[in-house]
Amino acid sequence: MSDFEGLKALVTGGASGIGRATAELLAERGALVAVLDLDPSTVEKPLLGHRADVTDDASVREAVAAAVADLGGLDVVINNAGIGAQGTVEDNDDAEWHRVMDVNVVGMVRVARAALPHLRESSNAAIVNTCSIAATAGLPQRALYSATKGAVYSLTLAMAADHVREGIRVNCVNPGTVDTPWVGRLLDAAGDPAAERAALEARQPTGRLVSATEVAGAIAYLASPLSGATTGTALAVDGGMQGLRLRPVSQ
Ligand SMILES: NC(=O)c1ccc[n+]([C@@H]2O[C@H](COP(=O)([O-])OP(=O)(O)OC[C@H]3O[C@@H](n4cnc5c(N)ncnc54)[C@H](O)[C@@H]3O)[C@@H](O)[C@H]2O)c1
Repeated sequence: MSDFEGLKALVTGGASGIGRATAELLAERGALVAVLDLDPSTVEKPLLGHRADVTDDASVREAVAAAVADLGGLDVVINNAGIGAQGTVEDNDDAEWHRVMDVNVVGMVRVARAALPHLRESSNAAIVNTCSIAATAGLPQRALYSATKGAVYSLTLAMAADHVREGIRVNCVNPGTVDTPWVGRLLDAAGDPAAERAALEARQPTGRLVSATEVAGAIAYLASPLSGATTGTALAVDGGMQGLRLRPVSQ
């Protein structure tokens, strides 16, 4: 029997990229999966699509309630919806800081808040937040985005402590640069997309971008009942970018 057989999972931002790969993997491994997204029109069966904007508390509450009704309960929440921001502290105004914080940090809070009463009913409850290497490494031109992911990292630890005695595990994944539509948009906007891609690839010791499927595998590992003793951890999925220091390749 597969590890997710009979479990019910909800994935935010599950219509694209990492969220989509995760929703598909959990379904392949036996879970019933609902996707919450701003645009769920591309979500295909067996995944169940629900429209939700994580910046709108009423929308989140309605969508979580509808998803739980469809699924018949809830065991796993993948808090993954997020957006990017570029620049130093001089480049984004207050409105942009509030907007990105609202999606990337408060959005996860809203989803967790709506989901917790249902997770308390589960004997295999797990939350996995999509954090980023930007939480643990100083990356240029990413002040606002990094601040949101640093908050997600700390939020993960605090939530893990708050809910461990209720039997709810909370962990996060810290991906490096992942080949998703998001990064595709970044590359398209660059002056020289091929050079930008080569620079991003070179930043990771593996010499290539991470795939969405590889991040999905790490998320599934943390969400699985097989990982019942793992809570309050951040799992790097970054091609070695955080932990390794290589010497330059000699010519
Ligand atoms: N791609 C990377 O290199 C990378 C690296 C580290 C972390 N991440 C994180 O992974 C997560 C997913 O990124 P991705 O690369 O798959 O991006 P993506 O743009 O391919 O997918 C993001 C999804 O989130 C949805 N979304 C955005 N705002 C929303 C909102 N307000 N309410 C509901 N849904 C919303 C979008 O509609 C989209 O389907 C994000 O949290 C991102 O910060 C990405």
